[in-house]
Amino acid sequence: TMTAFHFLDQILYVEDVPIRDIVAQVGTPVYIYSAQQILENFHQFDQAFQSIPHLTCYAVKANSNLSLLALLAQAGAGVDIGSGGELYRALKAGIAPEKITYSGVGKTEQELVEALQAGVQRINIESSQEFELICKIARELNTPVYLSPRINPDIDAQTHPYIVTGLKENKFGMSVEQARTLCRHARECSGVHITGVSMHIGSQMTLLAPLIEATEVLASFIQELRQDGFQIETIDLGGGLGIRYHQETAPTPEEYGSALLPILQPLRCRVIVEPGRAIVGNAGILVMKVLYTKQNASKYFTIVDAAMTDCIRPALYHAYHEVLPVHQTHDASVPMVTADIVGQVCESADFFGKNRQLPQPQPGDLLALFTAGAYGFSMASHYNSRPNAAEVLVHKGDFRIVRQRETYADLIRGEDIHLL
Ligand code: LLP
Repeated sequence: TMTAFHFLDQILYVEDVPIRDIVAQVGTPVYIYSAQQILENFHQFDQAFQSIPHLTCYAVKANSNLSLLALLAQAGAGVDIGSGGELYRALKAGIAPEKITYSGVGKTEQELVEALQAGVQRINIESSQEFELICKIARELNTPVYLSPRINPDIDAQTHPYIVTGLKENKFGMSVEQARTLCRHARECSGVHITGVSMHIGSQMTLLAPLIEATEVLASFIQELRQDGFQIETIDLGGGLGIRYHQETAPTPEEYGSALLPILQPLRCRVIVEPGRAIVGNAGILVMKVLYTKQNASKYFTIVDAAMTDCIRPALYHAYHEVLPVHQTHDASVPMVTADIVGQVCESADFFGKNRQLPQPQPGDLLALFTAGAYGFSMASHYNSRPNAAEVLVHKGDFRIVRQRETYADLIRGEDIHLL
């Protein structure tokens, strides 16, 4: 499928802007995002549920840049947050508190207080101890709270084991049985209302069957709760829709919606969806510069000025991301090589691609790591004391730095030298 990133006369563009123009001004490594692509993805997703009351709550963890959040807020999105820090960002970016959904297995008391004080109205709850704590906070703050137990339906999302979250051996959510007990208990807790049911069974899902099955589990639990007298108003399906990185085929948002609507419609609930990757994944690239090439024994290496600290997905999940030269060559005298594209960090897991066929790169050449908009910058670290990359947002033929490249001074902020 076409994205906002495209080659024209062998030169890579984002929307109407040549990548090299951005690099000339901002340097490398740099994350580049297309606003147009983000908006298109969001509208596609949102439209898939247009026939029923719904709110698309973009999952902030996929990419939490303030400008991206503000762009999505302007388009009408809500957000799914997973921490106090994400709440802080969402509020800074202008997301209305009533459009925020709070998920996560380990919310602290302080984080819960912050969320309730900010006016967050949907909290997905993952354990009975968390529930007790929320009851206590609700009493102390004298605020009503609206909760949706997160159901772990014990259904295999059939994705990478690190991002499967809906099996009973995973730490997430609770069984229907446990949720039933919790809901009955909630009746005795004044100010605390069970108004929804939620789930999130995995990420980068390319099959709809597990999602359909899990949604059916939630639907029948909702019917049961209603028979018990609970006023259930929302069903939160979580996120998890996969995208195409390489050769996989993922359902479109429309196919995803169509598959679930028949289960959702009769419930007359407001539907919450929490897509992250499907909104920003294909809307971002990481551009890096070739530093060196070398050959060890029988293997070629291309060493770039980025690293696993900028994008950990290949190292952590063996994720495949396309890597292509920003400027393709017409020159037939440039030989093709099969090389590992590796980063600057002292770890053998620090690679972007293994055994990739590409025209022999030269020092100074630019390479683009594609489909890097989701879980790229948001998972960056400072290992090897590497300042984080700059982030650029492109829109309508123009671009802005939306996060400055970090400096060495940023790296030591908050540190003091004490010799006791
Ligand atoms: N809602 C909840 C409660 C979540 O935990 C997540 C992601 C989402 C929504 C959004 O899921 P998405 O639509 O993006 O699949 N770092 C991994 C992905 C971890 C996903 C964690 N939870 C990766 O790079 O593949």
